[in-house]
Amino acid sequence: MPLICVTSPKGGVGKTTLTANLAYALQRLGHPVVVIDFDVQNALRLHLGIQLNDGRGYVAHAPHQLNWSRLSLTTQSGIRVLPYGDCSAEASHLFERHLRESPNFLAEALRDLLAVPGLMVLADTPPGPTAALDALDRIADFRIVVLLADSGSVSQLPKVMQGGFFRHSRSGLGSVGYIINQVDRRRRLNQDITEFLRARLGGQVLGMVHRDEALAEALATQQTVFTFEPTTAAAHDIDQVARRLVQQLEHSQAYREASQY
Ligand SMILES: Nc1ncnc2c1ncn2[C@@H]1O[C@H](COP(=O)(O)OP(=O)(O)O)[C@@H](O)[C@H]1O
Ligand SMILES: [Mg+2]
Repeated sequence: MPLICVTSPKGGVGKTTLTANLAYALQRLGHPVVVIDFDVQNALRLHLGIQLNDGRGYVAHAPHQLNWSRLSLTTQSGIRVLPYGDCSAEASHLFERHLRESPNFLAEALRDLLAVPGLMVLADTPPGPTAALDALDRIADFRIVVLLADSGSVSQLPKVMQGGFFRHSRSGLGSVGYIINQVDRRRRLNQDITEFLRARLGGQVLGMVHRDEALAEALATQQTVFTFEPTTAAAHDIDQVARRLVQQLEHSQAYREASQY
């Protein structure tokens, strides 16, 4: 507990980069983390030190192995990773079919991981509405939506805010948080859009992450920004997002517990 999925209406916005770096930040704050890659691109592992030629992953085993806890790899930082893996198109197709057609498939696969007290389970998803997002949305405790400070994200905002993006959950307060990524104060339009998004999303904004080349450079050396360049802007921003996420989770857990009585 808890299960958190990282999503976005469009691709290339920084979901994978933020998932890996957020995982590191959370672990550093004392919260053990397991990350799961639901994207066939299989890139999440690269941010966490798993080598390019290491094709291990859970997807090829998922239809037969009902407990994914056994399929995780432990990285040097202690973060556990379930890489998508380098698998055949047939294996991907079968996996997607299970996600779509077996309503309890994901919950059963994650049962052991979600039963570990305090363990944060962070799921990185492919962009847009997918079988993975649908299955995760059904059981997630919290959803992170990554937006860019650009006009494309603004155009998607009404749909996202109306809950059109999540089929199972209401996109209500407490269960959805937004990260505004690639903020650049030197660009007027970027700055205006950042302000607009902050005003529209209010307390649901988990934080902003500045555009920072160190994130791409850290990936090139298969590290998070925290070990690559700990004093850079993105490291500070992501640390702030992690702290706010923990607060939000504590708040929503307290709210859930209180509403049971
Ligand atoms: N805050 C940022 N500053 C600079 N580059 C970034 C930032 N966030 C992501 N990127 C870059 O954007 C590209 C897409 O990121 P990625 O995490 O793969 O996106 P997604 O998973 O949403 O497709 C990568 O080249 C990554 O290095
Ligand atoms: Mg990605």
